[in-house]
Amino acid sequence: MGTLKLEMTFVFFLTCLCFVAPVHPAAPPNVTISDLSYKNTDFAMNLYRKISSHHDKNVFFSPLSISASFAALLMASGGVTRQEILRVLNLDQLESSEHPQLIPRLFQLLQENIAQNGSLKLDQNMALFVHQRMELQNEFEDKIRTFFHADVKRVDFADTKGSVSYVNEYIRQKTQNKITEMISTLDETSQLLLINSIFFRGAWQLPFNSDLTRDAPFYIDNYNILQVPMMVKEDKFYTSEDIPLGARLLKLPYQEGVSMLILLPNKGIDYTVIDDEINAEKFQSWVEGLRKTRLEVSMPKFKMAEEYSLHRLLPDMGMTSLFTSSANLTNLSMEPGLKLSEVLHKAVVEVDETGTTAAASTTIGIVPYSLPRMFLINRPFFFFIYHEDTKCLLFMGRVINPSSN
Ligand SMILES: *[C@@H]1O[C@H](CO)[C@@H](O)[C@H](O)[C@H]1NC(C)=O
Ligand SMILES: *[C@@H]1O[C@H](CO)[C@@H](O)[C@H](O)[C@H]1NC(C)=O
Ligand SMILES: *[C@@H]1O[C@H](CO)[C@@H](O)[C@H](O)[C@H]1NC(C)=O
Ligand SMILES: *[C@@H]1O[C@H](CO)[C@@H](O)[C@H](O)[C@H]1NC(C)=O
Repeated sequence: MGTLKLEMTFVFFLTCLCFVAPVHPAAPPNVTISDLSYKNTDFAMNLYRKISSHHDKNVFFSPLSISASFAALLMASGGVTRQEILRVLNLDQLESSEHPQLIPRLFQLLQENIAQNGSLKLDQNMALFVHQRMELQNEFEDKIRTFFHADVKRVDFADTKGSVSYVNEYIRQKTQNKITEMISTLDETSQLLLINSIFFRGAWQLPFNSDLTRDAPFYIDNYNILQVPMMVKEDKFYTSEDIPLGARLLKLPYQEGVSMLILLPNKGIDYTVIDDEINAEKFQSWVEGLRKTRLEVSMPKFKMAEEYSLHRLLPDMGMTSLFTSSANLTNLSMEPGLKLSEVLHKAVVEVDETGTTAAASTTIGIVPYSLPRMFLINRPFFFFIYHEDTKCLLFMGRVINPSSN
């Protein structure tokens, strides 16, 4: 009897261990989606600097969807490739060898949090096109779908014409005809192509009255002056000033729990000076330092559709091996020499007067004692569209010419 009891205890103990051990190998890492948002913001500013160092035109991209694309590839990669992706995305501190799924899971939670109210429609698409002869690890396809809602599609890249039209047709359908020609050529040696696109069109909490929109000058620089449709609105807005930087800030809230933060360099301040100064810490302090005050805001209408070949930009930032035949993508496929050929990102935004007219109960009749201060956006400016609750940077842009595009 004695031995039996002992044996049972022993078995019970072992069973316990088996259940407990895999679930809690260590205390779960202490990171939140706010940490992820903060890291993403710093990555965004670094990427912005990279893009702006190549040209002095308009810039618009979605840091969230770019980070997410590479975080998806993180699930496929190992070794040096993985380390480089982590470092460039600024996520190496969130990496935990005991929890390889932690980063994908954080992205999933962040996206769920942003979409929580259901009213925010971020038209996001991510797809990975893989050469059809390649044998894939089963797990990868499930994981990329679960965590990132991304599709994996088979293409015969050797048939370049056929694969270009296949990819374009796929993207056209996914974006409901908003992108009809994503790519025009493909290299026949391509193995792996990642495409992501995102559209944004929010409704202002305080819409502009389109009857008041007038053409007004926009000073690209001292020599180039354009006439652009300028929207006007007088109301109480959150604003502040970054005196050391030489810029003013203005928040324009949307109805969907997101806001646009505008950074307008003071007259005479070269916007390229601002380029070097922006980072996640500054961004957070701008958002936290805003105060409500009555303002007359004048802002140009604009539309932007920008496209970036990230396989040309990211190697300069330190993500090199992913795009060479030494890429370690063993969790995607055991195929030797597999590498990522192209990563394309396209982001579209439209800024106009629109909001819900019901929300526009203007306070006619209250006569301010002094004329409201002006916030006149008539020269190049920066803007950031972010999710209020998580401070997640959804988009970042720079407007040099509001009427190009
Ligand atoms: C975990 O998070 C809490 C709350 O943010 C913090 O107070 C604590 O210091 C963190 N612990 C570690 C080990 O980082
Ligand atoms: C790669 O695959 C191995 C084996 O399935 C797994 O243990 C590991 O966690 C995977 N790595 C990542 C980053 O998902
Ligand atoms: C690729 O990464 C995995 C996981 O980190 C590692 O076990 C493997 O040795 C690496 N392969 C090469 C060729 O570096
Ligand atoms: C969305 O959620 C935020 C925070 O929970 C809330 O303040 C906001 O009113 C919600 N918006 C809508 C449209 O439900």
